[in-house]
Amino acid sequence: MAIELANIRFHYSKRPNHRVLNIPSWSLSSADQAFVHGPSGGGKSTLLGLLSGLICPVEGQVTVLGERLDTMNSRQRDQFRAASIGYVFQQFNLMPYLNATDNLLLATRFLKRKNTRALNNEIKDLFSALNITEKEWSVPTRDLSIGQQQRVAIARALINKPKLLIADEPTSSLDKANRDAFMELLMPMVAEHQMTLLFVSHDLSLSSYFSRVESLDDFNHLQESK
Ligand SMILES: Nc1ncnc2c1ncn2[C@@H]1O[C@H](COP(=O)(O)OP(=O)(O)OP(=O)(O)O)[C@@H](O)[C@H]1O
Ligand SMILES: [Mg+2]
Repeated sequence: MAIELANIRFHYSKRPNHRVLNIPSWSLSSADQAFVHGPSGGGKSTLLGLLSGLICPVEGQVTVLGERLDTMNSRQRDQFRAASIGYVFQQFNLMPYLNATDNLLLATRFLKRKNTRALNNEIKDLFSALNITEKEWSVPTRDLSIGQQQRVAIARALINKPKLLIADEPTSSLDKANRDAFMELLMPMVAEHQMTLLFVSHDLSLSSYFSRVESLDDFNHLQESK
């Protein structure tokens, strides 16, 4: 299993009476490319935060790639996330003043890789697979087009060869043509690298790209937790 959740309860400490997650049980197998949908404010980003160790459950067990995140300290979770999880954010979250290459190098810093030549070759291979041309490598990413930034964001999520790729509404600010272009780049990369994919969005029209489609409300039982 890539992901196993058991008896999860979560609320933000600022709002103790506002339960966000109550998940008795949920799992994702390594071969899955899953699409989880739900309305705005429904807890999708919170769920991804738990799975990537950005936040900790109030109760319950979070097992990702066989490791218990809920028993790790925050440094161990940071290390785990850097080594094992690729994350594509809604607004891409690239460092705007850094160029594409430096954005990828920053993502590899945690892993303390020694062989810089091999790393630079891997970055070039990814850029070439994602059609990021050489003249775009050294431009601050804020000066790239949205489509080019998307491709750098995918490259950054893949550079550490994560087993699990998490995507939080990466297409929500895109028009239909850019959205389809994004999906048609992402899905072959996921297949080629044999990654587990968990993609959340409110946009149900994306569901045709996925082998597994679920509503968060079907496994997040909020009404029973009050
Ligand atoms: N840092 C925070 N502190 C307190 N409450 C928060 C925080 N982040 C989110 N929430 C609340 O938790 C609930 C779930 O939010 P979350 O961001 O997980 O929803 P979402 O499904 O990702 O929504 P969207 O589709 O708009 O991104 C909401 O009620 C939100 O107001
Ligand atoms: Mg969200």
